[in-house]
Amino acid sequence: MNTALRTSLILCFAIYFFANLMSCTDGRFKQGKVLYEYHCASCHMEDGTGLAELYPPVNGSDYLMNNREKLPYIMRYGIEGPLTVNGLEFDIPMSGIPELSAVEISNITNYILSAWTNKLGTMSFEEVMESLNSNPAGINN
Ligand code: HEC
Repeated sequence: MNTALRTSLILCFAIYFFANLMSCTDGRFKQGKVLYEYHCASCHMEDGTGLAELYPPVNGSDYLMNNREKLPYIMRYGIEGPLTVNGLEFDIPMSGIPELSAVEISNITNYILSAWTNKLGTMSFEEVMESLNSNPAGINN
C-alpha cells in the first residue's frame, strides 16, 4: 500500500471515529436535558432558576459550585435540612428519585454542569458512582 493511500485511510478512519465520538457525547447531553426537564424542571424550572424561596436554583448556584460531587447523590437520595443557596435559605426536603439509573443520573449531572450559564466542567462515570456510594456530610443529617 503506498503512503498516500495509507495516510488517507488513516485520516478517513480518524474523521469517522471523532464524528461518532462527538455525536455520542451530544446524545448523552440531549438525554440529560430531556430527563432534567421531565424529573427536575417542575421545581428547579426549565432554565434552572428555581422558584423564589421554595426551590433553589441549579443554574449559577454557589451551593452546587462548592458541592459538585454531591449532585448525583442528591438526585438518588434527596436532600433535607436548611440550605443556603446564593444567600437565600431553603428548607423544604427534596425527595430522591430512585427510578433513575446511574447512567441517567450521569447524563443529567453532565447536562446541569454545563447547561445555561453553568461552567462546572464534567463528571466521569467513576465520579458519579463514587457520589452515589458516598454519604456526603450535610445531606439528610
Ligand atoms: C418536588 C420539587 C423538586 C424536584 C422535582 C427536584 N428538586 Fe432538587 N431541590 C428541591 C428543594 C426543595 C431543594 C432544597 C432542599 C433543602 O432545603 O434541603 C432542592 C435542592 C437541590 C439541590 C441543591 C441546592 C442547589 O440548588 O444547588 C440540587 C443540586 C438539586 N436539588 C437538584 C435536583 C435535580 C438534578 C433534580 C432532578 C433529578 C431535582 N433536584 C428535582 C426540590 C426539588
